[in-house]
Amino acid sequence: MTEPVNPVPTDPLLAELLDLALEAGRRAGALLRDGRPDDLAVAKTKSSPIDVVTEMDIAAEKLITGFLSEHRPDDGFLGEEGAASPGTSGVRWVIDPLDGTVNYLYGLPTWAVSIAAERDGETVVGVVEAPLRNETYRAVLGGGAYVGERRLSVRPAPPLEQALISTGFAYVQSRRARQADIAQRMIPRLRDIRRGGSAAIDLCDVAAGRLDGYYERGLNPWDLAAGDLIAREAGALTGGRPGERPSGELTIAAPPGVFEPLQELLEEFGAWRD
Ligand code: IPD
Ligand code: CA
Ligand code: CA
Repeated sequence: MTEPVNPVPTDPLLAELLDLALEAGRRAGALLRDGRPDDLAVAKTKSSPIDVVTEMDIAAEKLITGFLSEHRPDDGFLGEEGAASPGTSGVRWVIDPLDGTVNYLYGLPTWAVSIAAERDGETVVGVVEAPLRNETYRAVLGGGAYVGERRLSVRPAPPLEQALISTGFAYVQSRRARQADIAQRMIPRLRDIRRGGSAAIDLCDVAAGRLDGYYERGLNPWDLAAGDLIAREAGALTGGRPGERPSGELTIAAPPGVFEPLQELLEEFGAWRD
């Protein structure tokens, strides 16, 4: 029996959450793509002078939370640009309206809208909309990960010395300096490293077999919620320090066979410390 293309989740709640996440992502992606002013400027800064927010980050979050709460008024929200409410339905949306803001500010294509739905604290739906790639990545817990009609699957694991691994750097200078030291020690142990500028896309690239792995310290829940599910549903292992779930302390995603030695090396180097 061949596998159905685009299977609809059997759980009607998950089917509804997936549809809503896809539509919210599509609308926000179109707003960001088509509405980007030529003279786009920084609206404010957050944790440091290089941690920027544009008017478009704010507009995209407003669009997403407005759309979702119109359809599901009792759900909770956690959004990077301020949405925060517990809700009463057991469903909470975790949203990064624009992941890769610095790329977006400069007109580089690697940015995405990231929308995840949690049910009773567990991520059950993840959508990453990457308009300038023309790609929408999605996953439902237990239902696989897809881009369009293509089922996503991680690459076969190479030895760590031949692995292409992506990472990212936080906005706070002291943490960046330490992350640079770790990256410097990682480079001779790998094929190479990449710094794409969007954690959500890095995780989807692991899922799509375009990277052998990804790690980063300092992520927020909205950076990783959707991408983590997509990576896992494509066969990646994800975690933090040994035995831990991915978190702000450390997030690692890679196929089995790369994950374990990568996690070991990051543990040896103390990559979870500032
Ligand atoms: C950032 C991106 C970047 C990662 C940073 C994130 P933002 O998110 O995902 O790749 O290295 O840690 O904060 O600020 O563009 O939404
Ligand atoms: Ca982000
Ligand atoms: Ca963001």
